[in-house]
Formats: sequence, structure tokens, C-alpha cells
Amino acid sequence: MCGIVGYLGKQKATPILMTGLQRESYRGYDSSGLIVVEKGKTVCLKAVGKLDKLEAKLKNCNSLTGTLGLGHVRWATHGGVTEANAHPHSDCKGNIWLVHNGIIENYRELKHDLQQEGHIFGSETDTEVVAHLVEKFFHKNLEEAVRKALKMLRGAYALAIIAKDDPGKIVVARLSSPLLIGISGKKEYFVASDANAIAPYAKKVVNLDDNEIAVITPNDLMILKEKQPETLELESGDAQKKGFSHFMLKEIMEQPDSIDSALKGRILASAGAARLGGLESVKEKLREIDKIDIISCGTAYHAGMIGEYMLEEYAGIPTDVDLASEFRYRKPILDKKTAVLAVSQSGETADTLAAIKEAKRKGSLTLGIINTVSSSIARETDAGVYNRAGAEIGVASTKSFTSQLATLALLTLYLGRQRDLSVVVGQRIAKELQKLPGLIKTTLTLDGQIKKMAEKYKDYNNFLFLGRKYNYPIALEGALKLKEIAYVHAEGLGAGEIKHGPIALIDENFPVFVIAPTDSVYEKMLSNIEEIKARNGKIIVVATEGNEEIKNLSEDVIYIPKTLEMLTPILSVIPTQFFAYYMGVLRGCDVDKPRNLAKSVTVE
Ligand code: G6P
Repeated sequence: MCGIVGYLGKQKATPILMTGLQRESYRGYDSSGLIVVEKGKTVCLKAVGKLDKLEAKLKNCNSLTGTLGLGHVRWATHGGVTEANAHPHSDCKGNIWLVHNGIIENYRELKHDLQQEGHIFGSETDTEVVAHLVEKFFHKNLEEAVRKALKMLRGAYALAIIAKDDPGKIVVARLSSPLLIGISGKKEYFVASDANAIAPYAKKVVNLDDNEIAVITPNDLMILKEKQPETLELESGDAQKKGFSHFMLKEIMEQPDSIDSALKGRILASAGAARLGGLESVKEKLREIDKIDIISCGTAYHAGMIGEYMLEEYAGIPTDVDLASEFRYRKPILDKKTAVLAVSQSGETADTLAAIKEAKRKGSLTLGIINTVSSSIARETDAGVYNRAGAEIGVASTKSFTSQLATLALLTLYLGRQRDLSVVVGQRIAKELQKLPGLIKTTLTLDGQIKKMAEKYKDYNNFLFLGRKYNYPIALEGALKLKEIAYVHAEGLGAGEIKHGPIALIDENFPVFVIAPTDSVYEKMLSNIEEIKARNGKIIVVATEGNEEIKNLSEDVIYIPKTLEMLTPILSVIPTQFFAYYMGVLRGCDVDKPRNLAKSVTVE
């Protein structure tokens, strides 16, 4: 989704802005733009499409030497994908220039009033009202004008603003949309909505909090509330593909390491328990809770569904899972004994963040399983556990998903051992968790087999995914991956449901991907497979190594290693990741940046 970058210092701004935009582009965007202050004048360039279009315009523009600038990648919300709607936006006089992430909810009223006052608008965006509002209040001092303008806004914003008539300054502001300032220690400052953008340059960052405004000049960074810079943990090389053709494939292949780092130092094998430092401050409160509500979106929601089964089976805590977008608008029954757990890779998903704020308002304990350190949800929740998957650049969540599952298993162990989970069962879970990185390595050798399968199935336009119990959410996730990466229609179902309608779809042109490891519901899955076979359905099965009988019932069998039932999804999802990936590649899709999608959905 949209990304902001800014620079003020002694170096040429444009290469830094372009690098930053490139490093933010994984989030999904459809146009881009930048503004540079060049010898007292402003130069603004915009382009529709990928960043190479902006790069081409930059080349035509002779070398820009300005040392102050802002850049933006836009994912359209208000107004179509056009140059006029791309950021930066400016006021009537070309004095104020700004880039914005978020949504200004009351922009219609504001625009109407500003037009009445004679302001001329050049775009259909909500953002442009901010430029005109700042213009309205501007009397040579940018921060004063910004402060007044912000008072009139409703919604969410991360803003970076400059004024030609108040030179050598960037004013930034934040409300419910992330924004940070990078410091290199060399009299220069970087602005970004995503730390990844400035990782090659900045050593430290200051994360702005809601309602804060910062004034950046070459010699100074002034924030209303004094804040200590935090060390930036991202590696500047993190975002490289490291020889893989796509980030998605690289991230699938990284899963032995990402699971290893999610588990590192957290398993207490002989005690059959888990050590989770992030929960230490609420340890006693966690003993008291009698319900957990998991809230999340997209792939993280599927992780939450598996978390529900784990927590109920092994920790004995009644658990509900909600789509954050539903939770925030229904009337959830929460009290002080309910813990509300957000699961989110980015830690910025607008619906999940809003749901957490709602739960806090109702007095619940709020927890997070979050990948992105210092993200909004990580900071909003009372306590939590980072799932430590590392930077995930592919829009589709792969390694984040499996590390969310490993972290949910650790949480189950932790809460279970506070309650009735026996040391023996705890030890068994701990032992199986330790084996996971090795088992994932074995599962990754399926790569070649699934690539061949994708060649066979690449022209099919409909798929059904079936699973039960722990693997029902994997059926949903497998279908979601195929939709988002290969643009193939796919439906995920609890296998018990096919008789209630979907079986009518089955014929030889409708392949069915069945997740059927040898577990407590395997016999039931076998019956479902027979039903599909009787209707000439083409069956692809994910089964446990050693299961020979399944070969007679299916067209293709993919074997995964044996593990504890609750951990099976961490292995069974991998074939579905590969399948979506190769289907996408073979169908010519942009697998790392699928059309219309964004990595981090910071608007409703
Ligand atoms: C977007 C991404 C998905 C992700 C979902 C939730 O739709 O494309 O991959 O699962 O948002 O994101 P979160 O950052 O909260 O996990």
C-alpha cells in the first residue's frame, strides 16, 4: 500500500528517494511521484505504473542536485490511477507540497468549503485537501500552518510536507498510520512510512506516535514530545532476492530459518513449557483470563483459526476467532477476563489496529503476535510476542504465516502450563517443535514435484481445497494463495461441508486439492475423497509419508513428514504455497506484487 519517503541533508535527494521507494514498493502500488527542491524552485515528477516509469522521467530531467525532497508510491483509494491523483499534491500556488498515507474521512466537506473559498483542486484525492488547508493557514511558518490544518482533519494520516516559502524544512505528522524519521548522524534526516525504505542509510530511527508533529531541519529534529531514538534492527541487505527469481520463492525457502528464529530461546524442553519474555509483564493477568478472542485479517486470520484449535485443545481456554473488520463493528462481549490477541505480520493493518483499540476501550487485556518490531499494533497492545520471521517482501504471506503458527504453539504451551497441561504432554509438544526446522527442510524438497504438477494443472480455472480440523484453515489458505498469486478461482472448505452444496460442482474439470495427513480425522477425509472420486473429480492429496493406500484414490500425491497433529499445518501449507507460486509464474502473473493487492492494508 502507499509508501512515503523523504530526505533532507547534504547528499542529492533523488537517488535516496528512488531507493526508498523501491524498497517500499513491495507493499503494492499503482503510481509514484517525487518532489525535489532545486535551487529554490520545486521540481515535481509523477508516473502511472511501476517505478521504472518514474525513473525514465527522471532521466529526461537532467541530473537533479537538490538535497531536500519527498517521494511517494500510491495505491489508489480515492480517485483512479492517474498522474493527477499520484502524490505529491500541492496547493493553488505550488508553494505547499506533501505526500500522505491514510484516508482523510471528512475530505468531502473540507473540499466543498475550500472550493467555496476559491481553492482550485487538481485531483480527485482526499489528500489534496490537506495541501489547501495548509495553504489557507500559511504565513511563512510551515509548522504553524500544519498544526492548524491537522485540527480540521478526521481519519488517518502520515504526512510529510514542505513549503517553498519556508525553505530547508520538512514537517511530518502522524495519526494511525506509521511514520518514522531516520538518523545517520551526519547532519541529515530520512523520513519513511516503513523502516525498510531507509535501512541502507539510517542507523537509528524515531517512531512518531499518534498526534505528534516533527519539524526537521539540517541541524535539528524537533518533536513535541521528547523521544529516545531506538536502534534500527533491519539489515540493509534484507530486501534482496539473494539469487531467487522472486521474493515469494525466497521466503518459502527461508522457512526452516524463520521457524528456527521464532522458536530460538523460547522452548523449555525438560519443563515442557515456553519462555516468552514479551508476556512477563502480564504473566499474572494471563493466569486469570477465561477467554481469548483472536482478531486478524487475510492469511493471519487463517493462522488465528488454527490458534483457536491449539488453545482449546491444549490450554483449555475457550477461544473465538474474528475477522478484525467484523469484530470492530459488531458488539463483542468482552470483559476484564478476556484477552484479545491480534495476529498481524505488518502490525499496521487498519482493521486489526482499530479492533485492538476497541478492545482496550472495553477494558480487555490486549496481546499481539506481530512480525514488525515497533509497528503500531505492537506498540498499542499491552504485551506480546514477536514471531521473528524477518522482513517479508512478497505480498503473499508465506514465512510469516508459518512463524505465526509456531508462535501460537508456543503461546499454547505457555498458557497450557499455567493451567492443566501436563508436563508430559508439554514435553511432547516442545520436542516436536524443536524438530520443525528439519521437517520443513524435508518438505521443501517437494519444490520440483509441485512445479511439474503446476505445469499439468496450469490451465484449470477452478479449484476446490478441502481439509478438516487443524487443516481446514489450510484449505482456506491454499485457496486464498491460488486466488491472489495465480488469479485462479479457488474455494476452501471444511471437507464435511461438500455434501451440503459444493459437491454439485465436481466433475473431471474441477480439480480438488485435499489436505489429508494421517491424523484424528483422516478416516473422515478418506470418505470425502471417495465421494469426489465417484464423481470423476481430479484429486490432489497432501498425505503423510508412508501412506500407500492413498495412491489408488488420487491423481497426484504429495507426501509431507509426520509431526504432531497440532503442528501439521506448518508442513501441509508448504505444498499449497509452492503450488500457488508455480501456477502464478506459469500463468505469467506478477507473483511478488499481484494486481490490486497491497502487503500492508492501512485503510479500511
Ligand atoms: C493483506 C496481505 C495479506 C495479509 C493481510 C493481513 O491482505 O496481502 O498477506 O495476510 O493483509 O495483514 P497483516 O499484516 O495484518 O498480517
